[in-house]
Amino acid sequence: MNKVTYNGLTFRPYIKSDDIAQRVKEIANEIRNEFHDTVPLFVCVLNGAFPFASDLFRAVGIDAEIAFVKLKSYEGTSTTGKVKELLGLTDDIEGRTVIIIEDIVDTGITIEKLVSSLQAKKPKTLKVASLLFKPDALRGNVKPDYVGFEIPSKFIIGYGLDIDGMARNLPDIWVLDEE
Ligand code: IMP
Ligand code: MG
Repeated sequence: MNKVTYNGLTFRPYIKSDDIAQRVKEIANEIRNEFHDTVPLFVCVLNGAFPFASDLFRAVGIDAEIAFVKLKSYEGTSTTGKVKELLGLTDDIEGRTVIIIEDIVDTGITIEKLVSSLQAKKPKTLKVASLLFKPDALRGNVKPDYVGFEIPSKFIIGYGLDIDGMARNLPDIWVLDEE
């Protein structure tokens, strides 16, 4: 398969599942080396981060917990500029090591909002792991601590990333073909 189509838009292959799996392992190793003497709480940002969170959480291989928050900023292929919190964190994180798991940091407004709301709950350490990072699109001040792939500001789908709710179940990542 070298093309997929959603909403009349065509996407071409971008990052293969094997390469994703390799980077997930490397990030998991870094996190394990840094935090093996704590019991981190991973916070998965729904919906997009769930495949990455599922793979990373198991690959880290140390005692850890996971929780979920749900935020939404995108409609179709672009940001609305506003972040809606659809499900918040109920866990007590004071004094804990907390690692946010995101699918992608684009403008950075989602992660900035989440980091400041979790920071207010006084964790000991707060880190951000994002599978993808679009540095050229960044408007906020929060950069991810662990990044799978830095990519240009192009719209992508697959491995959790959606176009209006579709394409999250594609094992590879695909990029919008603008030609
Ligand atoms: P930000 O607040 O602009 O950094 O956007 C972060 C959120 O927007 C991510 O968690 C994704 O859900 C969504 N998003 C950003 N870029 C893309 C993309 O290229 N494809 C699909 N979703 C995206
Ligand atoms: Mg999304």
